[in-house]
Amino acid sequence: MEETNPSAMIYLNNAATSWPKPPEVPAAISESLARPIFGSGRTAGSQGEDYVALAREALARFFGAGPEENWIFTHNATDSLNILIPGFLAGIEGPCHVITTALDHNSVLRPLHELEKQGCISLTIVPFENAIVSPDAVLNAIRPDTRLMVMSHGSNVLGSVQDIQAIGKILHRHGIYFIVDGAQTAGHIPVDLGNFPVDAYVFTGHKALFGVPGTGGFYIRDPERVASVRSGGTGTDSFSLLQPQEMPEKFEIGTHNYPGLAALAAGIAFVNSAGTDAIAEKGERQTSYIIQELRNEPNIVIYNETPHLPIVAFNIRGMENDDVGFILARAYGVISRTGLHCAPLVHQALNGGKGCVRLSLSWFTTDEECRITVNAIREVAHNADSSLSQA
Ligand SMILES: Cc1ncc(COP(=O)(O)O)c(C=O)c1O
Repeated sequence: MEETNPSAMIYLNNAATSWPKPPEVPAAISESLARPIFGSGRTAGSQGEDYVALAREALARFFGAGPEENWIFTHNATDSLNILIPGFLAGIEGPCHVITTALDHNSVLRPLHELEKQGCISLTIVPFENAIVSPDAVLNAIRPDTRLMVMSHGSNVLGSVQDIQAIGKILHRHGIYFIVDGAQTAGHIPVDLGNFPVDAYVFTGHKALFGVPGTGGFYIRDPERVASVRSGGTGTDSFSLLQPQEMPEKFEIGTHNYPGLAALAAGIAFVNSAGTDAIAEKGERQTSYIIQELRNEPNIVIYNETPHLPIVAFNIRGMENDDVGFILARAYGVISRTGLHCAPLVHQALNGGKGCVRLSLSWFTTDEECRITVNAIREVAHNADSSLSQA
């Protein structure tokens, strides 16, 4: 396939990774690489910015939750879940019961299924209805041996946002740990973690926070409750041959991704300057426009007509979703994401696992791009319709 010219491209795959980045982001990366990393331990020292501290401070402020050292950097959201899930379960004796949902991504489902396969846990997957997991359904899934629930805040396929307040309160009433995967919500909607009844919140740097791939992390409310499942150099307490238990060293090993963290701090500063309320509002307005324009087309199926995130999931009857994505990219320069979006159970529930086309917008998506995309999809759908009626 020919490469799409970026200036002619309408990039609507921001739920996978955002593009473009605000100019401040590449500028921060360049700046971070302009000087060597100095100083003792792993800090940047006095010669330049301490990008790690800068990013930690930015996260604690942005999400309204501290202390700063409870914000941990990892490679991405998936890496964070692979640290947190066994970390929360480590202190629990014997096999226990864990809950997740059918809306979740493979970054949650696969670590849990691996643990189930090893006999460490039994797993209940709570279904969703109209893109929402009801707190009552979670309540009904609780057993005397339930110790942990892991679920996504926002669906990467349906764009729905779950009621973390209600679910978290139920779980905590039953003494159950709650890990929330915020990969799709961080940066898209306001998240006031200070008031969230969660034990850990996972974020990724490269989506709506406008950082780069290979950055992410988690917030942990009470680090004492979670075991460190990795060990290595921290630049501190080096005579100790066991992992230091102070924060953040308990969970952070090896050399940080300094340019990535410089990018993350710059990305968060950009989101702050745009404002999450304004970002959420614009996303909702543009998404509603696309849905309103397409919902009455006879051969277009839209899977959630009221998303809270700027995501539209659809299919054209009589066409494979991969073909629709290919035509949109090739003929119109519209970059979508097709297939299962790493969320197989969502698709199983929607249409037996056939997958769909996903458009995902960002703050940089223009109204004109939405209009062109709507017309492109209409045209593809009409062509499919006429070839269907001729067949
Ligand atoms: C809901 C959800 N969780 C987790 C991930 C994984 O994010 P990362 O690429 O940071 O590991 C994604 C994105 O791909 C996602 O949409």
